[in-house]
This record gives sequence, structure tokens and C-alpha cells, in this order.
Amino acid sequence: MLVKVFGSAVFGVEATTITVEVNTEKGIGYHLVGLPDSAIKESSFRIAAALKNNSYQFPGKKIIVNMAPADLRKEGSAYDLTIAVGILAASSQITSKEIENYIIMGELSLDGTLQPIKGALSIAIKAKEEGFKGVIIPIQNVKEAAIVEDLDVYGVSNVTEVIEFFEGKGNLEPTRIDTTEEFSKTLNFPEHDFADVKGQEGIKRCMEIAAAGGHNIILIGPPGSGKTMLAKRLPSILPPMTMREALETTKIHSVAGKTKDVGLMAQRPFRSPHHTASSVSLVGGGSYPQPGEISLAHNGVLFLDELPEFKREVLEVMRQPLEDREVTISRAKFTITYPSSFMLVASMNPSPGGYFNDPNAPVSSTPQEMQRYLSKISGPLLDRIDIHIEVTPVPFEKLTETRKAESSVAIRERVTKARQIQSQRFENFEHIHYNAQMSSKLIREFCVLDEVSLKLLKTAMERLNLSARAYDRILKVSRTIADLENSQSIQSHHIAEAIQYRSLDREGWLG
Ligand SMILES: Nc1ncnc2c1ncn2[C@@H]1O[C@H](COP(=O)(O)OP(=O)(O)O)[C@@H](O)[C@H]1O
Ligand SMILES: [Mg+2]
Repeated sequence: MLVKVFGSAVFGVEATTITVEVNTEKGIGYHLVGLPDSAIKESSFRIAAALKNNSYQFPGKKIIVNMAPADLRKEGSAYDLTIAVGILAASSQITSKEIENYIIMGELSLDGTLQPIKGALSIAIKAKEEGFKGVIIPIQNVKEAAIVEDLDVYGVSNVTEVIEFFEGKGNLEPTRIDTTEEFSKTLNFPEHDFADVKGQEGIKRCMEIAAAGGHNIILIGPPGSGKTMLAKRLPSILPPMTMREALETTKIHSVAGKTKDVGLMAQRPFRSPHHTASSVSLVGGGSYPQPGEISLAHNGVLFLDELPEFKREVLEVMRQPLEDREVTISRAKFTITYPSSFMLVASMNPSPGGYFNDPNAPVSSTPQEMQRYLSKISGPLLDRIDIHIEVTPVPFEKLTETRKAESSVAIRERVTKARQIQSQRFENFEHIHYNAQMSSKLIREFCVLDEVSLKLLKTAMERLNLSARAYDRILKVSRTIADLENSQSIQSHHIAEAIQYRSLDREGWLG
């Protein structure tokens, strides 16, 4: 008997429906056709064991499984359940016609329990688009998929539950998720709040500016000065995610198999890869391509702690994605693209030993060591960082203060207002949403200085020996400072503040 069941293949972050035809006839043997990989070819063993261990039969017939479209490569073990249901139907152990109305996916263990799959959200989105009634997936993936409205998402934990569902037995209910509730919960009570950071008003101001204009930022300070603590709190002051952004980000995490028990990711992600991370784990790739850290940080923050410790070639591969806000992974037979639009926050110690100008420092570095350390970060990556700021540890008395500082929610309100001004400014420019994205041409158009400001900038550049590259950065950042003040024009005090955020351009640092 011939039956049809449906699965789904995920490429990049988009799913494609896969039709699985199962035919049983007289004879023996198990034949799988339609470009499956070896993990799918091994499915027969898992399916046979899972069925037998749950008192169902693996038919002693000739079984042909055809996966279409044939030109699309199908990977992984997530089709176990699809094929198993097909075999059960083809051998009349399931008689329901309903199986054609669902996308069915899941990896089987030998005892019939289901293992989670990757990309459940993308699969559910596609199922809805193509008019399926619902999806049947492992229980571990149910929350992410249930974000999709008007689709019945069933989470199952073993093969018996699936069979009983189609036989009209059992009491499986579709999972529903209230996305509005998830949004308000994470927005009003961020996990990491600026209210917990004592003192550091100057740095907080800097991070507010960075958030408001989408400027990449580097924090320079000795160990224990609070760099990590501050960086972690940046997502909480970025404008709230839109539903579209939240879906984009959740999809990527779903494809990477990192959505364990989370539904919608309503808070912007914060990713902090270790400096020993490989290029593949940072930008994505691998033989089964997977999104990397820069894509997991999509719509959020990527924190590169101890920037000079990262391998040069690793930093090098980030350049293009930083520019394009997406990363393309090419293979002989296909290319896939993952979005990677994030804010970069980097940190570094002022010297390889960790200290700078500190008479009590345990070790001090020679000028040669200093030079070597700093030379690693100069160049293309540093060129994309608008704001440099030195962090000094807060004095003990401040740390013991009990008074709460301003909350992230309050800071975020100002940031959001400044972003609204920018959205209007760049309304007619596709792909430009905030000041950090301005090209030189746009800087000339939107960052016009009056006589006084121009003179101030010129003098400062000469006196501080600032490089030419600092010039555009200062203009962009001053535009953001003006926006935070709701000022149409850039004034000299905006410029004066922006000039302070170029520590690394000054003489003695990168030269
Ligand atoms: N301004 C601050 N307010 C409150 N706690 C702080 C502050 N600065 C540092 N700390 C404490 O010191 C710890 C170390 O800070 P951390 O962010 O790890 O420093 P760094 O990353 O610069 O080495 C933090 O976990 C926090 O408990
Ligand atoms: Mg740290």
C-alpha cells in the first residue's frame, strides 16, 4: 500500500516541506530514495527497534521510502518519526486519513521516545503557510513552534502517543502560547538591570549613547572594573524588540537547537563567545552548516571579552558580516545565509598584564609588549567601533552604597525616543535605521557643523593627535548625542562630548 506523510527540511533559517512516500509490497528489503544522507539511511534500525519495543510491527515486506523533492539534500535523524508513521500507515497499523494534514518530525530512540529537533519554529511557520492543520514534534520543541498562531502544535514524547493521537485515543492537546504576555514579562523585568551597577555614571551615559545610535563600543579597563557586568546590561536598554525581530532571532536559535524550553525570545540576545572560539563557532559553518555566535546575537549584542586575546584570523572573518549584517556560507552544492545584525561590545585590559598607569599593579608591561598587544586589534575591526571608553573600578564606598541606581527601563525610554528620531531621518533610506549605519555621504548630509563646533573639532583633533578615521566617528556619535537631547542641530557641547570617546586614537595607544 502507498501512503504519503509530510516532513520538513530547514535550509539556513527557512523550511521546505518534504513529501515522504512509503510503499509496502511483497518481498523483503528497505529502500530509501531521494537524496537522503547516512543518518536518514540508518533510520530503519531505529524505527524497527522503536516500533517493536512499543508492541507495533515493522512489516516484513519490501518497503520503499521516497523523499521528495529529490534534488534537495535531506539531513539528520529528524525524519525518523515521519517515516515511522508512514510505515505504520502503509502497513495499516494506522488507518487515519488525518496524517496528511500534519507535518510530523522527530528523532526516535530505540525505546520509542523522541529526541528534540532543530528548526522547529521555521518548520511551524512553513506548515502554516502551506495550509497544514498542525505539526507533531518532540515535546522539547513545542514552545518555540507554538508561537505560530492558528496552527495546532502538538508536543509528543514517544511514538505511542502519536499513534494513539491518529487513532483518536489519548488526550493530546495543542500547546498555546501567549506571546504578548512573554513580551511584557521580559521587557519590564530584564534579567540584568543597570540599577545593579553602582556609580559608573560616565560609562552608563556612554552605553546609553551607544544603544541610542547603534554604535559599536569598546570598554577598556583592568580586571574587576565591571566591564562584563556593564556589557551584559546593554540588551536591556536597547529599544524593545518588534514581533518581527523576536521571530527572526528565535528562528536562528531554533535552527541552532538552542531554544530548549523557551518560547518566543522577547529579550534581545547577549552572546559572549570565549576568546578561544574558532572561526566556525563565531561566524557559523561546519559540514552540517549551523549558525555561529554572530547570528545567535542577531538583533542583540555580541560581546567580545578581552578582544586582543582573540585569534587574528577569527576577528578577520567577522569583518564582512559586520558590514553586511548577514553571513553567507558556501558549499559546493548550495549556499545559505544567516542574518547577523548585532551591536558589538568589546572589552580589553589596558595592557597585556591587565593594568595601566597603576603604581600598585602586580606586573607592568614593556612598551614592546604593549605595542604587540594593541597591534592585534588595530585595523579593520577597530575601524567599526565608534566609541572607546576607559573603565576604572568604582571606589569601595560606592560599592557598599545601598541606593539603587536608575533602572534599565528608564534609560531605555530615552534610547527609544532617540531611535524614533533616527527612524524618521532615514525613512527614505533602505537598510539604514540608526546613526551608526551612516555612510560618509550621509554623514556630510546629516552632521553639518556650525563655525564654533567645526573650530572646536579641528583644535581637538590637532591637540589630541586624532587620526582622520576618528573624524567621521566623532560626527556620528555627536549626531546621536544631539538626538538624545532632541536637538535638530549638532552643537559644540555634543561635539565636545563625542571627542572624549576616542581613547584609542590618542597618541601612545595605537599611534
Ligand atoms: N560598579 C559596580 N557595581 C556593582 N558591582 C560591581 C561594580 N563593578 C564591579 N562590580 C562587581 O565586581 C564583579 C567583577 O566585575 P566584572 O564585570 O566581572 O569585571 P571585569 O569584566 O571588568 O573584569 C562583578 O561581578 C560585580 O559583582
Ligand atoms: Mg570580564
